[in-house]
Amino acid sequence: MIALSRVEIDALAGPGWFARDGFLGRAPALALRGFARSLLARGALHESALGRTGDHDPSMRGDLTHFVNEGLRRRALGPLTRALDGLALSLGRDAWLPVGERQIQLACFPGGGTRYAKHRDAFRAGPGRARRVTAIFYLNDAWLPADGGPLRLHLDEGKRDIAPELDRVVVFLSARVQHEVMPVFRERLALTSWFYEP
Ligand code: OGA
Ligand code: MN
Repeated sequence: MIALSRVEIDALAGPGWFARDGFLGRAPALALRGFARSLLARGALHESALGRTGDHDPSMRGDLTHFVNEGLRRRALGPLTRALDGLALSLGRDAWLPVGERQIQLACFPGGGTRYAKHRDAFRAGPGRARRVTAIFYLNDAWLPADGGPLRLHLDEGKRDIAPELDRVVVFLSARVQHEVMPVFRERLALTSWFYEP
């Protein structure tokens, strides 16, 4: 991964987010897509539970998810792992956002109008380390407006919709940026990485 640019650093310090296209390159992104679809095909993904209650409520969150073990999946995740390591390094060194552990989750919205209601990825409460930075890497080739499912960011300056296009990454401050997934009408795959406080 190329280090954060000046524009990206300023974006994190200001509105709290940026998007970058061509994060890994098309071939590695397609390989990751293949990996994600193989996990899906072998039934590794399950209905997601919501944070506090642990209930499954498709009106709030309609995706299937799977936490990916980075240690056991070195070969498949290699290019992503290296890019995320570079991102972590640059966050600490260039953006004054040191990060520690990370967690990677594969999420699949099956279509049919499934969505994920407005939320934040971290809250300033409770014991333990909080998520500091979210990086969502999208795995969907040639996404069309009619496919729905943009990531909608709720920012001070208004709403911003981002299509979940292959090889695009969206990075934001987990405790700050409220976001949602608008109704999805085609299978939508993403690998979400959460970087925790050190
Ligand atoms: C999440 C999330 C958004 C997306 O997994 O917490 O908000 O665009 N995902 O997939
Ligand atoms: Mn989220």
